[in-house]
Amino acid sequence: MARLKVGLIFGGKSGEHEVSLTSAFYIYNALDKKKYDVKLIGIDKKGVWHTGSVKELWINPGQTEITRLNVKTREITAVNKNGKVYLVDLNNGKIITNIDIFFPITHGTFGEDGCLQGFLELLGSAYVGPGVLGSAVGMDKDVMKKLFRDAGLSIGKFYTLRTGEKNNLAPIIRDLKFPIFVKPANLGSSVGVSKAKNRNELMKAIKVAFQYDTKVVLEENLKGREIECSVLGNEKPIASMPGEIKLQSDFYSYDAKYISPDAATPVPRADLKPEIAKKVRETAIKVFKVLNCEGMGRVDFFLTPKKLYVNEINTLPGFTSVSMYPKMFAESGIPYPKLLDKLIQLGMGRKKRSDKLKRDFIA
Ligand SMILES: Nc1ncnc2c1ncn2[C@@H]1O[C@H](COP(=O)(O)OP(=O)(O)O)[C@@H](O)[C@H]1O
Ligand SMILES: [Mg+2]
Repeated sequence: MARLKVGLIFGGKSGEHEVSLTSAFYIYNALDKKKYDVKLIGIDKKGVWHTGSVKELWINPGQTEITRLNVKTREITAVNKNGKVYLVDLNNGKIITNIDIFFPITHGTFGEDGCLQGFLELLGSAYVGPGVLGSAVGMDKDVMKKLFRDAGLSIGKFYTLRTGEKNNLAPIIRDLKFPIFVKPANLGSSVGVSKAKNRNELMKAIKVAFQYDTKVVLEENLKGREIECSVLGNEKPIASMPGEIKLQSDFYSYDAKYISPDAATPVPRADLKPEIAKKVRETAIKVFKVLNCEGMGRVDFFLTPKKLYVNEINTLPGFTSVSMYPKMFAESGIPYPKLLDKLIQLGMGRKKRSDKLKRDFIA
């Protein structure tokens, strides 16, 4: 059988560009080359698509702090010709290869929020991970929380600020009480996230968050264990055993996630009572469905002695050597390469389902 042509997309115009390079590098290494002919697609910080070999594209692969995309590589785009999807060389207009399915592992803005997914839909291509809607609502911490609230899921108190609007912070501070978490609504990897302990810090934190987004979310501090759960599937999603992030630092910051290995310990199997683990898994699946997700998602919680609060979903979770999404499934009996097989099958399955829908109407 011919190998499936997989277009692995990484990088992008996002604060998580470097993390994406690392995730993609691990995915590339784990993909079974007997089954897949992997074409590498690196999107640079200006949004230009590049292709090349592993050696050409990745500078310092696998180390998030120093890894870079080599932009002196072949510039490309993707097109649909006669219903088939191709990569085309921008300089000579020649077709390089066809693609059967894209695997975007582009964390953050434009790559995880439905923008890239919309482009892949327009191309008519199969792709891994959630579609446009699931990606968009899973990325926006404001809209996501409102959908959680509507579904009766437990969430902490929050307020949303928008650029250009005057906000009276005094009643918000009175309600949330310090410390207050401040976040850009649409980002990840804790980029732009601060824990403000007083009014001064709050003003600074809001300024920082507004550098990344036009919407900023303020949240009450939830003092609990950080529990995570991986979800996989389309119509009938399954959940992994829950894991836990054990923090040795103030909160799970960008630094704690990728730079200082001692600041946090990801534990792929959380020590939880069976009934709590069950509740986490059931809630993770509910979150996945409520947000219209498909393919994959990692659902993050705060577990206090009294309550299980939902924090967020990550629709293109990390796939680096320390990332929890694949580790939690490995703990649950699905090793990394098999997980990638399943994700690709789910992406192909969704495309088949979508192709069966009627796209014309003649009365
Ligand atoms: N309301 C909160 N209460 C306590 N800790 C929080 C809260 N919100 C965020 N944090 C801390 O900040 C980290 C990053 O916030 P999160 O909402 O997960 O953003 P991101 O999407 O960037 O991962 C969390 O893992 C947690 O350590
Ligand atoms: Mg998070």
